[in-house]
Amino acid sequence: MCGTDRILVNKSSNNESIPNNEAYINLDHGDPTMYESYWKEVGQKYSVTIPVFQSLSYFANIKILCWFLEPKLEEEIKRLHNIVGNAIVEDRHIVVGTGSSQLILAAFYALSDPLNELDPVNVVSAAPYYSSYPEMADFLRSRLFKWSGDARCFDKDGPYIEMVTSPNNPDGVIREPVVNRATGMLVHDLAYYWPQYTAITSPADHDIMLFTVSKCTGHAGSRIGWAIVRDEKVARKMVKFMEINTIGVSKEAQLRAANILEIISLSCQKHKPHDLENFFKYSHRLMVQRWKKLRDAAKNNELFYVPKFPHRYCKFSRDYTETYPAFAWIKCKEGIDCEKLLRRHKILTRSGRRFGSDPEYARISMLNREEEFEVFVQRLSNIHGTVNGN
Ligand SMILES: Cc1ncc(COP(=O)(O)O)c(C=O)c1O
Repeated sequence: MCGTDRILVNKSSNNESIPNNEAYINLDHGDPTMYESYWKEVGQKYSVTIPVFQSLSYFANIKILCWFLEPKLEEEIKRLHNIVGNAIVEDRHIVVGTGSSQLILAAFYALSDPLNELDPVNVVSAAPYYSSYPEMADFLRSRLFKWSGDARCFDKDGPYIEMVTSPNNPDGVIREPVVNRATGMLVHDLAYYWPQYTAITSPADHDIMLFTVSKCTGHAGSRIGWAIVRDEKVARKMVKFMEINTIGVSKEAQLRAANILEIISLSCQKHKPHDLENFFKYSHRLMVQRWKKLRDAAKNNELFYVPKFPHRYCKFSRDYTETYPAFAWIKCKEGIDCEKLLRRHKILTRSGRRFGSDPEYARISMLNREEEFEVFVQRLSNIHGTVNGN
């Protein structure tokens, strides 16, 4: 969390945060509340009711490898990937997890356990990397795997696991593996490979690919993620991890997620209900607007540098688009601690240090509610002059 600062945010009757002048705006977490506006419009018409007699069993389908995966969720995951064209799902195994967070650990276990190495297998990712990877790898001080830092500096022998995050959290860059050795095992974290954030250039086709509803639909609270796995043995090991860890994944959450994915797929159809806007068009438009506001707020300001992204052709939208990342990776002028500077202006962000980078950088969530985002850009545009960020 964010130290001892009080986050002074009023709650309205329907539990929305309304920032006041004194309130800290918390843009540290990638909490995807931006999407509430879409789902409120969709409203009651598409709510999910689960009768009390349903889903009592631990099991969902004992005939398939991932025996706790709801068939409806598997069907909707595959359908959505086929519509969006962002991942190959044919002849692949789907493993559901309590968020993709749990699947990251399942993948570390599945890849390292069969090797029977004397020393823990090294886990690396190119800096700036998602700040949770080091914590996840080292939290339980496993004898199977350990965090070994920036993949670009990795020079040890032996097997290793490389996390390839594309578009990358925190900087939104499209990535490829960097170590490229025969002893490497890759996990592609594609949490942000959706059309609202970036061009869908081709269906991803890797050994282990991770996705999550958190960043696709905004339903982070449902805690549903999925892995698309090529190798059956690896998929079985991941399922084993889930079995020992939580004996599967909540059926209610899976059914709700299945319904939400179904709505999104429906919204992408040519002959969709007239009151259901295409989800990806809606959320892409919001991201474009937010990035424009951010760039306007930082324009002519010598303190901040906002990164630029190339245009690419998106096969889903059939148009050219930039990347509009879920986070802004802001660089401050040399010698200024960006996180501290923004904190003094009541904007809470995550320091570049947490991502294996420099304190001149800070990661700012672009996915908060509209009211908070507006206050953020307002405050940012008011930061001027000579400052000592330290
Ligand atoms: C790159 C990346 N991977 C995984 C996750 C975890 O997502 P989930 O909510 O599915 O656990 C996040 C969340 O911020 C993320 O940014």
